[in-house]
Amino acid sequence: MLMFLIIVLLWPQLTQGSDSLPVKVANTAVIGRLGSSVVLPCWLNPSLDVRTMEIRWYRPHKFNIPVLFYREQKIMTDPQEESYRNRSSLALREPQSDGLKGGDLSLRLDNLNIDDEGTFHCYVSGDKGYGSADVTLSITAQGSSPVLLVQPKDDLMNVSCSSCGWHPQPRVEWKSNRTTSFRPVALVYSQGENKLTCVQSWALLSPSDFHQVSCSLFISEGDERESTVAIQTISRLMDSAEDGAASWKALFAVALLVALAMIGVSVFLYRKYKSGYMRAKADEEQLTVCSNPNMEDLRKHAVSITLDSTNICPDLVIIPNRNMVRDRASAADNHKGPGFPYYLSVCGIKGLSSGCAYWEVKLTAAQIKPKQSWLIGVTKAAHYLSNDKSDLTPSKGFWFLCSDEQTGLHINTEPEISLPVNSRLEVVGVLLHYEKGELSFYNAKEGVHLFTMKTKFQGEIVPLFNPGIGDEAPLTIINLPESSTQRNGASESAESASPQANVA
Ligand SMILES: *[C@@H]1O[C@H](CO)[C@@H](O)[C@H](O)[C@H]1NC(C)=O
Ligand SMILES: *[C@@H]1O[C@H](CO)[C@@H](O)[C@H](O)[C@H]1NC(C)=O
Repeated sequence: MLMFLIIVLLWPQLTQGSDSLPVKVANTAVIGRLGSSVVLPCWLNPSLDVRTMEIRWYRPHKFNIPVLFYREQKIMTDPQEESYRNRSSLALREPQSDGLKGGDLSLRLDNLNIDDEGTFHCYVSGDKGYGSADVTLSITAQGSSPVLLVQPKDDLMNVSCSSCGWHPQPRVEWKSNRTTSFRPVALVYSQGENKLTCVQSWALLSPSDFHQVSCSLFISEGDERESTVAIQTISRLMDSAEDGAASWKALFAVALLVALAMIGVSVFLYRKYKSGYMRAKADEEQLTVCSNPNMEDLRKHAVSITLDSTNICPDLVIIPNRNMVRDRASAADNHKGPGFPYYLSVCGIKGLSSGCAYWEVKLTAAQIKPKQSWLIGVTKAAHYLSNDKSDLTPSKGFWFLCSDEQTGLHINTEPEISLPVNSRLEVVGVLLHYEKGELSFYNAKEGVHLFTMKTKFQGEIVPLFNPGIGDEAPLTIINLPESSTQRNGASESAESASPQANVA
């Protein structure tokens, strides 16, 4: 064995003359993301045509089963380490490189996994001698957005933060009100699936001292994932629930939160715990909010939506073949005063009265900022003219998520609940589960659940949209491929969907 090792280690020296080819590599580690591709740069300087030479990339002690083996002007697949089959190739270290002719030996690796981390030897030999150098590869994996769970603990709130799928171990930072960092009570790392790291951390906080709490995880600056929870709001909800005076009785469970920043997103779980709150069935007592829903599964419930252009306000324009709606310039003149222009609404033609239905709405267009002013939801009243917020409540048959400059993102609960968000949503997904009485909203671009409203639907309801006023971007309903098995919830009749269709 020892002899074998010696031979392996000395192989280059035994087979070649002197270590004479000037092999260069980057002097810092190359970083690649899990699942993506990376180029490990390696080249001869001064350059030399290496097309007729032998090139061998190999992991430590695996000279005989290389990652990539090139000789006689072609890549040999035998011998080759099994795990690199079809994943390794020769590549250019920069676009203007001359490739093998110019002495570029760089290796491309695809579909990176955790085991690729570490040293790669870049070795070349020819008539004039041989040379080698080492490149170090680090793998990073950004985990899921942290899920925040809030549970009462005596007079305090136990806020816990958990996330999986990281590599290497992420740093965890808790902050109150976005500014002050504080230390959690516990911070535990464990190994999860595929050798990736999971984190769990929790802190006991007093809602009177902590208005908003965020937990962010990051490997390096700029790639953090953050979740935020307004614990004062939750605590108030829990208290009002305890008094039996929850003003939004229809709202069994509220999970809020927040879509974050460039990267991360926030979600929390609001767990029912007061036995007096809801005498509902056990399965309704807790709303499970999943931070990373499977968007593919949601899209299986896709329904196509046609905007009802027959009854819209003259301040709106619909572009039917593109399923797009926006405000006309006249809207800004006609809408006096502050507040959201609720009357600029338009509904879907088809009514929904059973089953699941999913749709997505785009709030941006190429090269323009996402909209700031918009409303997306469902309603029982297909046509209404009121501009008074107090008429647009769940008890009157409206359920929506709304965004405007003054209030930011909010849900039309009674009382209204604001969601702290520090970036604009680009694509909103809506899932209606009629029988369960659930209306869920998603940040469909990032694949994150925002919150779910729970209520009781009766009769037909229709999708509701409002493009607001003054944004450059229109509101566009994305045409998802409709699933044939999920259409039973949609009735084709425009009349039944909108009882007042003939009014205007
Ligand atoms: C590599 O690709 C070939 C041809 O595309 C395929 O037959 C083979 O199964 C692949 N091997 C691995 C290990 O994926
Ligand atoms: C706080 O919540 C976490 C997660 O549910 C749990 O592991 C921990 O034991 C709780 N701490 C206390 C003091 O209840």
